[in-house]
Amino acid sequence: MKIIVTNNLEELSLQAANLIIEQIKTKPNSVLGLPTGHTPLIMYQKLVQAYVTGQVSFAQVKTFNLDEYVGLPRTSPDSFYTYMRQNFFDHVDAKPENIFVLDGTAENLADECANYERELENYGGMDLAILGIGQDGHIGFCEPGTSWQSRTMVVTLDQTTLEANAKDLANSSVMPKEAITMGLGTIMEARQIILLASGESKREIVNKALKGEASEAVPASILQTHDNVTIILDKEASGQ
Ligand code: F6R
Repeated sequence: MKIIVTNNLEELSLQAANLIIEQIKTKPNSVLGLPTGHTPLIMYQKLVQAYVTGQVSFAQVKTFNLDEYVGLPRTSPDSFYTYMRQNFFDHVDAKPENIFVLDGTAENLADECANYERELENYGGMDLAILGIGQDGHIGFCEPGTSWQSRTMVVTLDQTTLEANAKDLANSSVMPKEAITMGLGTIMEARQIILLASGESKREIVNKALKGEASEAVPASILQTHDNVTIILDKEASGQ
């Protein structure tokens, strides 16, 4: 596990974007796993800048988002689909047919999960998954107690996640209590993983996930058992 401590979120974002660009340069049709949330916002800005200035093209890249709320249509301002379009997809040359985001309004969510796994497998799995971390240690929306073998599934969100994420919702939306997420088993098959954490509120969980016992009680601790993980922290999250 490689741990990079940066001075601030700006630097963290630049480092993350550079690793993604490097991956795409090595393999232009890379398959990426992508997160939403606050932490990667500037990273997406850096990727957009890199595209606009001709440093990278996403034309052949395939993207699979980690998760989505159950019950929010894609058109909702709070769906992760909308987040991805607004912050990234609409500003780069990613092709709609190469963009995969779970549909939390699918009539049959079990089928939606199985299809997502199949689609990912068809493309050879993820070359690189970028993750954030929740204050309870979740990655994707795999909350504490999630099986390390889990595959894409419907989950009930923990109270801490509901509270953290409800703040961001447009007032027209009711906070979804469930989500659809890649499983820990799915995420761990990514050939390379980058985890990003910023701010003091993540310090304690980052410390537990990286240095504590690897167990299902702290989902992100599973990363200790992956052989190609880079953790990018800012000073606040690292405690340095
Ligand atoms: C979102 C996701 C979550 C977030 C995590 C941290 O797609 O997979 O695991 O990465 O909740 O969110 P922020 O960055 O808002 O603190």
